[in-house]
Formats: sequence, structure tokens, C-alpha cells
Amino acid sequence: AQSSMTVTVTGAAGQIGYALLFRIASGAMLGPDTRVRLRLLEIPAAVRAAEGTALELSDCAFAPLDSVDVTDRATSAFDGADVALLVGARPRSAGMERGDLLEANAGIFGPQGRAINDHAADGVRVLVVGNPANTNALIAAANAPDVPRDRFTAMTRLDHNRAVAQLAAKLGCRTADVEGVTIWGNHSASQYPDVTNATAGGQPVSSLVDEAWLESEFIPRVAKRGAEIIDVRGASSAASAASAAIDHVRDWVHGTPGRWTSAGVVSDGSYGVPEGLVSSFPVQAVDGRWEIMQGLDVPDFSRRRIEASVAELEAERDAVRVLGLLG
Ligand code: NAI
Repeated sequence: AQSSMTVTVTGAAGQIGYALLFRIASGAMLGPDTRVRLRLLEIPAAVRAAEGTALELSDCAFAPLDSVDVTDRATSAFDGADVALLVGARPRSAGMERGDLLEANAGIFGPQGRAINDHAADGVRVLVVGNPANTNALIAAANAPDVPRDRFTAMTRLDHNRAVAQLAAKLGCRTADVEGVTIWGNHSASQYPDVTNATAGGQPVSSLVDEAWLESEFIPRVAKRGAEIIDVRGASSAASAASAAIDHVRDWVHGTPGRWTSAGVVSDGSYGVPEGLVSSFPVQAVDGRWEIMQGLDVPDFSRRRIEASVAELEAERDAVRVLGLLG
């Protein structure tokens, strides 16, 4: 049966936007039978570039794509949105302190949260990609009091996919054979890529690799992969980030039967992560909702790593709270 959904993408003229929109329009995110209405939000200076992308989207003649609208007004961009991909953000410029960065982004994600609150569809699903993604998601959620908290998520799927790919390369297996990997905490270098419960071809990963490799190569490589991409490519990750956003929303909508993945979701206090923080957890999607996997083994080494990343999330939250930016 044909259904249709409105998908809003912010930062549509940016490099992730350019890699993301064509896959959404082709049906890679919602499936070939869901028709898509795209709404692109940009700042006034980039509206024309986004209109250029809209021309190219038209030229692809994608069967699922019903329409593309470009605007610089958040209220119309989120009107009736079923899925909102918040990609556009304020990057850190030279000499900018962390507090300035958080404040500049709160000036984007606060109003967008309010626009989602007032104009989006009842079942809206929000994925924040723009950094600092976890805290931007917290700010958007705090400014959308009528939208259930679990509708706001932050993207750590790219980190998850990087971890799976690194393990598969090390073990010489297929990525599809790797299961049970978790990214915990913040989408930042403090994140904890955890293989405690991971398997490859059904074998515990911990029995296949040694601890020294995990600690001195795997964890830092995954956590700092963004910097490695910038160094080698000369620009930050774009297509891989877009692909992870597609994976996140596709799994959220269609479910993850029998396996889990990682996503930044609002904590319910699980695993000692303070309630209300947007932190990455092991999650499965059931009936259109992300559920945090319960009862997983968290040894001391993991607990310390999770606590360190969560402490960073708390510091970001406290910084925006003192600025009065949490709604
Ligand atoms: P980009 O600079 O190429 O594009 C960003 C776009 O956002 C620009 O076109 C800009 O005009 C637009 N924009 C800025 N403020 C806006 C606003 N208020 N409303 C609508 N649009 C606005 O950046 P790129 O490479 O596309 O990355 C976007 C964001 O994604 C960055 O914050 C980046 O750090 C983040 N990112 C997150 C990842 C994750 O795993 N969570 C991975 C990679 C990037």
C-alpha cells in the first residue's frame, strides 16, 4: 500500500544535505512504497543553493518523490513534518569557546524545537545530526514540551557503523556478521565504542581480539575517525554521515528485529545515565519506538568509560542551562 510522509531537512545546501537528499528521494530511507514530500530549510544566504539541489532532485525523476519545497522559515519548513533531520548547525570558528558554540547552536535548535512543537505532525521523529548533536537534541526537545521526549534523538549511528566496519576489517568477516556493538555517551571523542557483548559470526569478539588492540587501536580509532577523515579527505565526513542518518531513520520506522544498534536517546536512567540527558545507548526499534536494551553486562572498565563521556554531556547540559537555553 502507498503511504506518504513529509521529511524536513535542515542545512539542505550543506555537504551532508547533498549526500542525504538523493537517497531520501530515491526511497532508501522510507522504502520504495512511501511517497516523500521534501521540505528543505536553509539560512537565507544558502536558499538559492538549496533551490539548485531541488532542481537536481527533479532531474532524477525519482518515483517516490512527490514535491520539494525550499524555505528559510522554520515554521513552514516543519509544517506537518513526519521526519525531521536537523543537519544544519553553527560550526566552531577560530577562537570560539565551547560556551559560545553551545549558545550559537541553542539559537538554532531552540527555535527549531518550538517550530516542531507547533507545526510538526503528531508522530514526528527528530534526528539531530548537527553538532554538538546530543546537546542540540536536548535543546530542541526542551523547547518542544508537547512532543514526547522519545521523539528526539541524536545521531551516533555513524560511530556505530565505523566500529562495526573496523571490527569486520580486523576479523576478516563481513559487516553483516558483526552484532552487539554499542556506542555509549556523547558523539565526541569521549564516546565509548563497546564490544563487551559483541559477536562476529556468533563468536564473542572478546575471544577473537586482544585487549591491547581494543584499548590502544580500536577505541581511539573509532572515537577519532572524524579527524582522520578530515586529515585524509580534506573535508569532514559527509556521505558516511548521510548514510548513517538513513540507517537511523529506516531502522526507527521499520524496526530492528533480533538485533540492536546505537542511537542518542533521552535517558530514562538506564545504566546510571542521568534521566533526561541525550546519550548514546544500545537500542532496538520496536513498533516505531527506540527501546534501550536492558540487562547488558557492563564491567568496570566500561563503566568508567561511560561515566567519563556522560560527565561531558552533563557539563554541556549545565552550560546551556545556566545560559537559560533549556526552554
Ligand atoms: P556544512 O557546513 O557543509 O553544511 C551545513 C549547512 O547548514 C549549511 O548549508 C548552512 O547554511 C546550514 N545552516 C546553518 N545554520 C542553519 C539554520 N539555522 N537553519 C538551516 N540551515 C542552517 O556542514 P556538513 O558537513 O553538512 O555538516 C553538518 C553538521 O553535521 C555539522 O554540525 C557537523 O559537525 C555535523 N556532523 C555530525 C555527524 C554525526 O555523526 N552526528 C557526522 C558528521 C557531521
